[in-house]
Amino acid sequence: MIRIVKVKNYEEMSMKAANIIVGQINLCPKTVLGLATGSTPIGTYDQLVIACKNNYVDFSKVTTINLDEYYGLDAEHNQSYRYFMNKHLLTKVNIDLHNTHIPNGKAGDIEAECRRYDDLIESVGGIDLQLLGIGHNGHIGFNEPADEFVPNTHCVSLGESTIKANSRFFESRDEVPKKALTMGIKAIMQAKMVLLLASGEEKTEIMKKALFGPITPAVPASILQLHKNLIVVTPIDLA
Ligand code: PGA
Repeated sequence: MIRIVKVKNYEEMSMKAANIIVGQINLCPKTVLGLATGSTPIGTYDQLVIACKNNYVDFSKVTTINLDEYYGLDAEHNQSYRYFMNKHLLTKVNIDLHNTHIPNGKAGDIEAECRRYDDLIESVGGIDLQLLGIGHNGHIGFNEPADEFVPNTHCVSLGESTIKANSRFFESRDEVPKKALTMGIKAIMQAKMVLLLASGEEKTEIMKKALFGPITPAVPASILQLHKNLIVVTPIDLA
């Protein structure tokens, strides 16, 4: 089932998304949150930090599982997703950092790291609420457009449009890692709830394709049409 919550702007999207996450944690303090990086969720994380400071939410029993990490960047690199998550959320709320998980982009044995990540997701009982952004090419996590959906955590080569989009965070395009580790489609689809956020007019076309177009690995987010509990919060006019 898809529920679309139309909001006025990025601020309202962030507030509503944070409210949904706060509600989830209050109902289930041991929630397993699937988390995303990128510009889209930053406002949501800011709101969660405020909610935690005001004692509206308690992260002490929460587990987080991030979608992806660049291959080859260690946790201290200022463009790694571990760095991003610590900066925007994890070190600012009362979560136990031992319960926060992100693929290890520096793992020596990438295959083993991918299996470890899938085992980890299984061992915590799967994801309760998965927060998602969407790439301009329809990617979710780093599940890039492809000929088939990949179920498990895997190493991907990033597409040109992703490298271009993400180069805004690096000194130059050459510095953007060309590969990443990403959670696969299975763990995302098995999440009990998916919260998809998108803002900016330039995402209108891809959001329409994802939510109303054919379900195809060429638009990875289109698989979400089959999710049993998808909530979309967006200021984008999808009519
Ligand atoms: P963005 O990235 O939030 O920076 O637009 C979204 C994504 O690539 O998933």
